[in-house]
Formats: sequence, structure tokens, C-alpha cells
Amino acid sequence: MASARLTRHDDVALIELDHPPVNAMSHALRQALAASLDAALGDRSLLAVVIAGAGRLFCGGADLREFNTPASVAAPSSNELRARIERAGVPVVAAIHGSALGGGLELALACHYRIAAADAQLGLPEVRRGLLPGGGGTQRLPRLIGVPAALEMIAGGEPVDATRGRSLGLVDATSDGDPRSAAIALARERARAGGPHPVAAERPVRIDDAAAFFASARERIAREARGAQAPLECLACVEAATRLPFDQGLAFERERFQGLVNGTQSKALRHLFFAEREAARVPDVPEGTPLRPVRRVAVLGAGTMGSGIAMCAAAAGLPVVQLETDRAALDRGRGTVAKLWDAQVARGKLTAAERDARLARIVPTLSYDDLGDADLVIEAVFEDLAVKQQVFARLDAACRPGAILATNTSRLSIDAIAQATRRPADVIGLHFFSPAHVMRLLEVVRGAATAPDVIATSMAFGRTVGKLPVRVGNCDGFVGNRMLSAYTREAGFLLEEGASPQQVDEALQRFGMAMGPFRVGDLAGLDIGWAGRKRAAATRPAHLRYSKVADRICELGRFGQKTGAGWYRYEAGSRTPVPDPVVGDIVAQCAAEAGIERRAITDEEIVERTMYALANEGAKILAEGIALRASDVDLVYVNGYGYPAWRGGPMFHADTVGLATVAERVRAFHARHGEWWTPAPLLLRLAAEGRRFNDRESA
Ligand SMILES: NC(=O)c1ccc[n+]([C@@H]2O[C@H](COP(=O)([O-])OP(=O)(O)OC[C@H]3O[C@@H](n4cnc5c(N)ncnc54)[C@H](O)[C@@H]3O)[C@@H](O)[C@H]2O)c1
Repeated sequence: MASARLTRHDDVALIELDHPPVNAMSHALRQALAASLDAALGDRSLLAVVIAGAGRLFCGGADLREFNTPASVAAPSSNELRARIERAGVPVVAAIHGSALGGGLELALACHYRIAAADAQLGLPEVRRGLLPGGGGTQRLPRLIGVPAALEMIAGGEPVDATRGRSLGLVDATSDGDPRSAAIALARERARAGGPHPVAAERPVRIDDAAAFFASARERIAREARGAQAPLECLACVEAATRLPFDQGLAFERERFQGLVNGTQSKALRHLFFAEREAARVPDVPEGTPLRPVRRVAVLGAGTMGSGIAMCAAAAGLPVVQLETDRAALDRGRGTVAKLWDAQVARGKLTAAERDARLARIVPTLSYDDLGDADLVIEAVFEDLAVKQQVFARLDAACRPGAILATNTSRLSIDAIAQATRRPADVIGLHFFSPAHVMRLLEVVRGAATAPDVIATSMAFGRTVGKLPVRVGNCDGFVGNRMLSAYTREAGFLLEEGASPQQVDEALQRFGMAMGPFRVGDLAGLDIGWAGRKRAAATRPAHLRYSKVADRICELGRFGQKTGAGWYRYEAGSRTPVPDPVVGDIVAQCAAEAGIERRAITDEEIVERTMYALANEGAKILAEGIALRASDVDLVYVNGYGYPAWRGGPMFHADTVGLATVAERVRAFHARHGEWWTPAPLLLRLAAEGRRFNDRESA
């Protein structure tokens, strides 16, 4: 239930917003606030009003669940409430603790004064949901803190703390601890001093050379947005604030907000927001399953992944023992980690003291004897089943009973690794993504024998180290890499059929991918995939189409950026891909050998072939139970593979196109390109029933 309880503090009214968990501005809360405001303003013995939040924060903003429903616009609207506050005649003070976000901050902006606890967070994160602050935020904030700072907060979505808010003029004062009593004192003092009380909406907006400022900001924001509309709409609204009277600016903001809220992009981003909450629920782990304590972590390997994983654990305050085969590898790993944290210190993102504390938490070792205390071991040694089985047999002997034994394997079977131990129930996959200290995704891979409390503890550990854990099943490549295989396979076939690496990369980057598949390959290194293909060669079904282009490129020692050439070539010291005729020749030769007549390929075909390959594979993954839900597949691809969040993920994108269309195209590709395109039965069934992968409408 939502309430806005009114209490009297002598001559000051305190109204507390109370709607757990985040005091979201639902219709019920707006009604309650309106009633309390009426009561306070109608009582002549009350000289001022303070608005605060109950629980752990001031107000988390609009109620996302009411979006696109009649409740979101039912009276009293947030707009009416804000206008009411501005015209109150008595001072109204916002007392902000915890956070004031979105509609919560917009409510505070309509108050005459703001006092915030020093550690409170203030922000307008709407842009992250594909929206803009539609409650006057784009018009009031530039008037209060100036255009450049307001644009940064609105189009960037990043909150500021109250200390920074104070220097920006966003808050009038900060308090140590609960701001209510300071707010009541300020309200009383301002009431006695008499009006008029400052109203943000009435302040002028100042900016020198607006045209030049907005032209350069627009160019930068468009580049960073990679196809997302909301940041540019935010800019348009802030610009409107500089040239329109307040009321017209509000109308402009409302119109732009409506465009976004009804559009696909914000639905896609809200889908991902709810998908994250849903991903935390794992049906095969009974509610209330007790977690195993994870106080000490061990990491095996100090290479690319081992170093990144150790950084994650140490940054979360956990002591880490890191094991390697020789001292030089340990030193190399430590050097990498120190350099990465040094860079953060240089950028002011980390204090030197915190860097030193983190480094001190990572203790190197060459002996399994030092792993006896570890509650969780994460193995990140070479991707070789025999090596991993050997390592797990040694872990079995060295680790205490109940320790969780995790592998960071990219593709190997968790069950085959677990078999090397006498405790397969304690073995699980924890698949981090590179660079592990940056990428949010963590695939938590359940083996056939993995115990429920090992899954639950692994999910909790993922959250502790700041990751987004997604529970997946055990198969070649799990969810992400299995889909990636389908995607890169089609990209490779498109080359043989007539496209160039840069055409494919550019078409997919225009679609919104952070980087096209051939540029990704060159960045990650082509040798690992090559080794895998050589291992799999003996068992590859001979009748399935196979492109030899990637192998031929590797045979020339072209492993990507690290060797100066791969799908592209690179000038010494440069990461800029330069198209290379050598690759064109290899492609043409492979196509001729395979009897493929090359033709002009459209960008549309590139996008359809790669995107529907993802959706078709995703449907098979879903039907096999490897992913628990379509939204988990979306989370994996958005958070691990540079898929544009504003498209909601590959399954949401297929839903948006319409599964009937996708099924029809997959059937056509099957007829033309053969067995790789065998339509997923789930896709055909949902298409026939007129349904979606993500059936739970999130909008
Ligand atoms: N690189 C990636 O993008 C990526 C992403 C996700 C998962 N992975 C997986 O992570 C694992 C590690 O990959 P990487 O890229 O960090 O490899 P890497 O070659 O950079 O590092 C592997 C490290 O393991 C050490 N090592 C080898 N055998 C060992 C043993 N028996 N005991 C202790 N240490 C040993 C090596 O000395 C080396 O430092 C692989 O399973 C890989 O598939 C890699």
C-alpha cells in the first residue's frame, strides 16, 4: 500500500512518501501525496512543508509497471503535484536521503529548497530505459544548474552524489545522516524570513553560443548512442529549454516523452530491466536454499581471464589465492593487474590506498597446499580438457569438503570436468567474459550433478562481485558462445557469397552491434578458434557446409591485431583495421573451390542472416532448456557480446520483427542454404500460434 503520512513538527508539516520498496510514484502514491499536501496547505497553523521518503530512499521515480497503462496518466498527475508545490505559497523543502532518481528528483526540483544526506544519489536515469525525464526535469534542471551540467546528467543518466550536487547548485545544503531535521529547521527559517521562495521553473536559462554548444554536443552524443534515440531526444529537450518559455518547454518535453514511451526502443530497454530481475530467479533452486559461505577465493591461472577474475574478487573485498605453474606467469599476471588499477588511479576512479589494499588481497602461490582454505575455486587455465581434468583431480585432493569448484571454460563440458573429481555436485561453470573486470555478464553453468546450493551460492557470488549472473545449462558453448558460433558462421558464409569483411562489419555496426564479427575476431585473436576447429575436424559432419576462409587466414600466421594482420591488416602500433586484398583473394579462392558463384550482397541480407541465425539457435537453446527463458538469452547477448541494448536482445528483436516473418525467412534460408538453417520447432510453433519468445509483455 502506498501512503504519504503527514506529521506535525510544531508549525512545519512533514510528509513521508511510503511505497516500498522504492517509493515509486504510482497512482496511489500520487493520490496520497495530493491529499497530504491539501491538508498541510489548508491548515493556516502550518508555515512550511517538508517532503521526505520512508524506508531507505527519498523516491525512486515513476512506477515502471504503470507505463503505457491508464494509471500512469490518472489524476492527480505528477505535473499537477509539482505545479501545486511551486504555487504552495509556503516554502516546501525536499529532504533527500538514499536517492532521488527520475520522477523522484523531478519532484524535488519542484520544491523550493533541497537538503540531501551527503551520500545521497541524485539522478535522472530515464535515458537508460530509452526515455527522457518527462516530468519537467529537462526544463527545470538546466535552469537550476546550467545547460552543460544538466545535459550531462540527463543524456548520460549517471547520478551524482549530494556533495557534487551541492557544488552544481542542485541541492541547497547537505547533511550528515538523516536530512529530515535539517530540512524542518530550514523550512521554518525560510517561512519566517518570508517569500517569495525560489521556483526553478521561473529562473532564466543562460548559455553562450547555444548553436555551437548544441552542434558539438549533438555530434558527440549521436556517436556514443550507436543508434539509441533517447540520448538525442534528451538533448532536443534541453535545447528547447534554452529557447522556449517554461510552459512551452514542458509541452515539448511531453510530446518527445510520448514518442519514446510508445516506441520500440524504450520497450526493449524496459524488457531488459525486468529481465535482470527475472534472471535472479532460478526455478531449480528451491526458495530459501541456504548459501555456502564464500569468504576466501582461489583462482587458477594468471592469464587474461585469471587476472581479470582475481581483480573482480579482490575489488569486492575478498582475499584471493592465485595459483600458476611458474613464478614468471604469476609476476606477469600481477603486472597486468597493477597496470590496470594504476590506470584507474590516474583517472581518479580509484584511490592509491584502495589499489594497494586490493593488490595485497591477491596472494600468489605455486602450491595446491595453499588452496585448503578456499571456499570457492575458479579455474582459468588453458582451454584443454585433459589439462582441466588434471587440475580438477588435484583440486579434489587439495580442497576442503564443501568448497565450490568452478571452471571458467568457454565451451568444454562441465560434466566431463566434474568427472575428474569425486564430488561432481560441487562442480559448476562460472563463465566470465573478457575483459573480466569490465564485462557484466556471468554465465553460471549448471552440470548434470551440480547441487542446488552450489548454483544459488554461485549466483550470489556473481552479484557480490558486481556481475549479472545468468543460469545456463551445459552444452557446447552454453548460451552465448553457442549463439556466437551460429552468428560468425553466417558472417563467414556471407564472405564466400560476395560480401567483404568490412561490409559485414559495417552493416552490423550500423544495426547497433558494438563491433562487427571480423573486427571482434581480430581483437580477440583468431588462433583459439582455429585450434578448436582443428580439434573438431575429425567429428565434423562432412555434408554440412564449411567455410575454409578462417583456417586459410590462420595458416598464414594471421591471428589478428596481435600479429598485425587477420581479417584486416594493422599498421604498427595501430588498432585501425585496414582492408587487405590478401583476404579478398583467399575468400575468392575458397568460394571458387566450393563452387559458389559470388554475387552482390545487400546490408539487409547481412543483418537478416546473422540476426535470424541468432534467433533460430536461441530457440533451440530454449527448447533444450539450456536457457531458462528467452529474456535470459537476451541478457546474455546484450551483456556479453555487444548487442545493442535498445533492440532488447536477439530474441526480443525477433519478437519485434514478428516471429511469422522470422520463421518465413528461416524457411527460405533453409531451402537455399541447407541444413544449418533447419528451423527450430519452437520458432515454427510460436510463429504459427501468433506468439512471441518473450510472451510476458513487459511494456
Ligand atoms: N580469453 C577469453 O576471451 C576467454 C573468455 C572466457 C573464458 N575463457 C576461458 O578462460 C580460460 C583461460 O583463458 P585465458 O584467455 O585466460 O588463457 P591464458 O592463456 O591467457 O591464461 C591461461 C593461464 O593458465 C596458466 N596455466 C596453464 N596450465 C595451468 C595449470 N595446470 N595450473 C595453473 N595454471 C595453469 C597459464 O600459465 C596461463 O597463464 C580458458 O578456459 C578459456 O577458454 C577465455
